[in-house]
Amino acid sequence: MGFDTDDFKAKPVIGILNTWSDLNNCHTHFRDRAEEVKRGVWQAGGFPVEIPIMTLSESFMKPTSMYYRNLVALEVEETMRCYPLDGVVLMGGCDKTVPSLIMGATSANLPAIFLPAGPMLKGCWRGNILGSGTDMWKYWAERQAGNLCGESWNELEDSIARSPGTCMTMGTASTMAAVTEALGLCLPGASSIPAVHSTHARMATACGRRIVELAWDKTNIRDLLTEDAFHNAVVTDMALGGSTNAIVHLIAMAGRAGVELTIDRFDEISAQVPVIANIRPCGDYLMEDFYDAGGLLGLFSRIREHLKLDCLNVSGKTLGEAIEGAEVFDDDVIRSLDRSVSKAGGTFVLRGNLAPNGAVIKPTAAEERLLKHRGTAAVFKNYADLKARIDDPALGLTPDHVIVLQNAGPIGAGMPEWGMLPIPKYLLEQGVRDMLRISDARMSGTSYGACVLHVSPEAAIGGPLALVRDGDQIEVDVEARKLHLDVSDEELEDRRSAWQPPEKKFARGYGRLYHEEITQAHEGCDFRFLHAGPDAPEPDIF
Ligand code: FES
Repeated sequence: MGFDTDDFKAKPVIGILNTWSDLNNCHTHFRDRAEEVKRGVWQAGGFPVEIPIMTLSESFMKPTSMYYRNLVALEVEETMRCYPLDGVVLMGGCDKTVPSLIMGATSANLPAIFLPAGPMLKGCWRGNILGSGTDMWKYWAERQAGNLCGESWNELEDSIARSPGTCMTMGTASTMAAVTEALGLCLPGASSIPAVHSTHARMATACGRRIVELAWDKTNIRDLLTEDAFHNAVVTDMALGGSTNAIVHLIAMAGRAGVELTIDRFDEISAQVPVIANIRPCGDYLMEDFYDAGGLLGLFSRIREHLKLDCLNVSGKTLGEAIEGAEVFDDDVIRSLDRSVSKAGGTFVLRGNLAPNGAVIKPTAAEERLLKHRGTAAVFKNYADLKARIDDPALGLTPDHVIVLQNAGPIGAGMPEWGMLPIPKYLLEQGVRDMLRISDARMSGTSYGACVLHVSPEAAIGGPLALVRDGDQIEVDVEARKLHLDVSDEELEDRRSAWQPPEKKFARGYGRLYHEEITQAHEGCDFRFLHAGPDAPEPDIF
C-alpha cells in the first residue's frame, strides 16, 4: 500500500507557537506540553509544526518585557502570514507573552486557540503560605526594616517558586489568562488549571484536537473577538481584582480586533462589578485555591448577570453553555456578589489636571487612609534619581508625602513596572508600609499599595506630570476619581514653557519605534502604524 498523497495534503497544518525557553522559568513545562498538543493534532487528522517564538520572561528581561511586547506581536503576525498555516495554538503565560501572542494572531486572523501556561503551586516558608511577588514585596519591606535576617531571606527565596508555571497570585499572568478565557480564546476552564496538574496535559491535547476542527470550520480569531467578548473580559478583570496591566493590554488587543475599548469603559464596569475573587494581592488565597474552589467557570457562574452569555468560544459553545452546571466549592475563595471582597471592581480610573487622559489605581490593594489624601510632592526626575535619593533622611519625607516619579512612561523608559515606588528605609523602620505614589510607569500585578499609575500623557512628552515640583500639593480622591495638582494654570503655563524633554532613551533600531510610533498608556501602548486595524488591505502575494 502506497502513500495517499491527496490525503496527506488534506491535513490542516497547525502551527504550535511555543514561547518555551530555558530563560523563562514560568514556561519550563512547555517542552512537554507542545508534545501533548501535537498528539491532539495528530489524533484529529492535522499536521503539527512547532515554531519557537521569542519568549518574554518577566523575571529576567531588561529594560522591561513591555518594551518587547509589540516586537513579539510583530513576530507572531509575520510568522502566521509567511508560513502555510491553517491554524495556530498559542502557548503563553508569563505576563506579556499573552497579549503579544494574541495581538499578533489577531492581526494575522487565522483560527487560534490560546493554551495558558497555568499558575505554579503555592509556596510555603516556615508555615507561611507564600504568593509570587506579593509576599516577596511584603517580606522585602520587613528585610529593609531590619526585621528579617539574610538567612531567612534566602530560605524564603528558595520556598516561593516550587514548580513550573506562572505567578500564582492574581498578578498579570493570572489576570491575562483569565481575560483571554473570557474573550473566548481558551477551552472552557483552561486558564485556572495549575501548570503541573495532570489536567493541564489533557487540556493541551484537547487544544490540539480542537484547533484542527476550527481550521476545517475556518473560524478565525476575529470571529470571536467582538465588542461583547471584550465586555466579558473587562467584567472578568474587575471581578478578579485583576492586574492594572490588563487595561493597557486589553486596549491594545481590542485595537487589533477593530473594537473600540477605552479606559473609561473599565471605570464604568468597575462601578457595577465588585471584586469576588479573594486572591492576593487584593485578598487572602492563591490560584491553586481558586482552581479547587471552582476556578474561572465557578466565578463566571457568580457574575452571570454581568456577562454577555451569547458570546462564542473556541470550544464551539456559547459562554452560557460553557458555564452550565459550573459550581463554587469554597465560598470564601470565590465570594458571592453580596459578600464581595470590595464594593467596586478591581481598578479605578482617575482624571484631573495631573492626568488629563487618565491614570489608574487599584484601591483594593491600598491603605484606606490614602484613598482620599492631600500631600506634599517629593519629585524624582527618573528612576536613577529615585534610587539615589529616596533613602536619604535629609529629604525629610513623612508618611503623608506624595512620592512622584517622572519619565517612566512608554517613551520615557519603555514603561517598566516601577510604579510600586520604594518607601524610604527610615520610614519602613518606623512601621510605615504604604504611601501615596504617582508615576507614568506600570506596576506588577502582584504589587500593592496606593500607587497611581499610567499617568497620561506621560512626562517624557511634556505631560503635566513633568511639571510637578517638590513642595507642590497633590490631591487624590479615589471615590470622586480625582487627581489634582494644586498649582494655578498660569504657573503651569510658565513651567511648561521652561520644560525641556529628557534625552531620548532608545536610539537604536527597534527602539526608535518607541520614540516615533508608540501610543500612550490610555491607548494601549501599541505601535501607531498597526492602528490601521483589521480593514487594512492585504498585500498581493505572488
Ligand atoms: Fe512569569 Fe510572573 S514571572 S508570570
